[in-house]
Amino acid sequence: MKKIFFIVSIFIVNILQAQNTFFPPEKLVQTGVYYYPEAWNPDQWDRDFKNMADMGFEFTHMAEFAWAQLEPTEGNFNFKWLDKAVELAGKHGLKVILCTPSATPPVWLTQKYPEVLVVLPNGQQAMHGTREHYSWSSPKYKELTSKIVEAMAKHYANNPNVWGWQIDNEPSHYGSLDYNPAAQANFRVWLKNKYKTIDALNKAWGTAFWSGIYSDFNQIELPNADRLISGVASPTSMVDMKRFNADECASFISMQNKILKENIAKNQFVTTNFMSSHTDVDPWRNPDLDFISYTMYPVAGYTNGIGKQGFRLGDQWMISFANDFFRSLKGITGVMELQPGQVNWGTFNPQPYPGAVHNWLWNAFSGGLDFICSYRFRQPIFGGEQFHYGMVGTDGVTPLVGGKQYSQFMREIKQLRKLYTPNSLMPKEYADRKAALVFNMDNIWETGVQPQTAFWNERGHILKYYGGLKSLSVPVDIVNETKDLSTYPVVVVPAFQMVDPQLVEKWMKYAQNGGNLVLSVRTGLTDRNGHFAQAPWAAMISNLIGAQITMNDMMDVNHAGKILMDRNNYSWYVWGDMLQPDNGTEVWATFADQFYAGKATVIHRKLGKGTVTYIGTDSNDGKLETAVLKKVYDNAGIQIKELPEGIVLNWRDGFWIANNYSSSIQHIDLPSNSSIIFGKVDLEPAGVLVWK
Ligand code: GAL
Repeated sequence: MKKIFFIVSIFIVNILQAQNTFFPPEKLVQTGVYYYPEAWNPDQWDRDFKNMADMGFEFTHMAEFAWAQLEPTEGNFNFKWLDKAVELAGKHGLKVILCTPSATPPVWLTQKYPEVLVVLPNGQQAMHGTREHYSWSSPKYKELTSKIVEAMAKHYANNPNVWGWQIDNEPSHYGSLDYNPAAQANFRVWLKNKYKTIDALNKAWGTAFWSGIYSDFNQIELPNADRLISGVASPTSMVDMKRFNADECASFISMQNKILKENIAKNQFVTTNFMSSHTDVDPWRNPDLDFISYTMYPVAGYTNGIGKQGFRLGDQWMISFANDFFRSLKGITGVMELQPGQVNWGTFNPQPYPGAVHNWLWNAFSGGLDFICSYRFRQPIFGGEQFHYGMVGTDGVTPLVGGKQYSQFMREIKQLRKLYTPNSLMPKEYADRKAALVFNMDNIWETGVQPQTAFWNERGHILKYYGGLKSLSVPVDIVNETKDLSTYPVVVVPAFQMVDPQLVEKWMKYAQNGGNLVLSVRTGLTDRNGHFAQAPWAAMISNLIGAQITMNDMMDVNHAGKILMDRNNYSWYVWGDMLQPDNGTEVWATFADQFYAGKATVIHRKLGKGTVTYIGTDSNDGKLETAVLKKVYDNAGIQIKELPEGIVLNWRDGFWIANNYSSSIQHIDLPSNSSIIFGKVDLEPAGVLVWK
């Protein structure tokens, strides 16, 4: 018995050590901020780092856009200025995240080697300037990137002030696709590796349609919607292109990671910062990094949020979803850029609500993050982002409203560290309701190519389920399909269109063994190539859900339909499945109008020791999805806790944190034995409550 205990404890210690190599748990979270020494007078650097440290920051972040200054002419590296900046940061006790500068090639490079530039869908070469305008596929760009990365890695390998590395910056082409000849060539190689024979590709791409048959891989071009006359060439080809594009990005990052790892000290980490909601690349394709991190801007005129001030508070689930998504790859994550205040690039750029930045900081903390960093310390006085706030304003020294909120948060974290107890266990009742949400980027890509209604929004649909779970105070792991599901009492699979029989079998076993499986619209409609089976509609999941899907419908907002469940009405228009339940399958909700009024759209069945629920509607506001999830938990006898509107609740390291994203005061009910650390139970908009 003793021996078993010993082995188990070594195992636990090992896991903890693996996590703690870079981030000691007793620090809880460490906070830092971007700095651009190359843009400021060197006489001000010392002052700026001192002010940064005085405000409470513990690390800084430099060089991601400084290639032109680091290699002013080909092969001539100049690290002197950066050495000085790194040294001064260290003098003020600030650790440094150094970045590889591949996001911004210098003009000598793009002029001498124009073949490195992205070729836009219209066939034009991207212009030099801005960033991310280089091709991931270009051999020349890879060669030149390797050289500077190696030079930097060797130079800073053992610098004690260098804490870790960020590769590139927000790897992506910011929504553009790359038609560079090198990408074209790599695509053909990628296809050959995948399909082996041209016949296999023809079959997978369905090229018998519209005379699309290829006889040789060399005939294939990257599909380009801008140059196609009408419609989608082959949906499978488009999805393959997305997969290829994400692979090219991942391999460019991996190439840099390898060079760094070969040269730097073991205690320096390597990561990159993906945009939190960007879906042209796939962060999960880089498991070789020590961890992945994300960038986050909740208020830029693109969300209504909750209530009149919601547009200043941000979307309630945006930070939480990113925390749970990015953490899932390695069990470690951080936010590399968290909005400091007003930005410049939104449709319009409102001031965040008073306290909103502080609220986001605590929401980031509550998701288990090891570090939080902000873009940027000083508001720029020139360049494309001069209207963008920093921690300090245009005079370079006076803290702006967000800067003050960062300082407040950092003071609070220092207090919290004193209350930290190692290895706190998640409260049982909370842990017992933990759900997994199964995610695969392929489904975002496929439903993007064939949305079937202009209003289909795969990510938005997934967020309805994520938000539904979180609003019931359920901790969520966002997992990929290979994850062992057996420890989760509830598993949610939203709009998972592309499946194979093995995956469906895995879900079936999960339910048979006692799990509660929830599937939603579009799930299981196609195989991995995006083909339907030669069988009745959705045949792949009919046995699992205990029903036939006889038809689906969609409307626009002016013709929204109604769903009836437990005497409540819910509104929908984007997607509705009509279901014909098998014997023994319960009907939970039906259509309340249209010519199919009375037909089932939410069903539930027992399967082995567990249950399967199918939700055949995408509701307008996610309220139907939340109500069904609640019913699933109630039915399974698992306790949940409905949270007031706009409240985000999380537990980490022995602390509970509640954030209010709504425009009104919300009351938080605390158990009588709790002790409040910060905030009050009547939470103002953007208010934070922390308790033990
Ligand atoms: C981020 C980007 C930064 C900066 C910032 C402005 O997406 O990584 O370099 O442009 O936006 O909000």
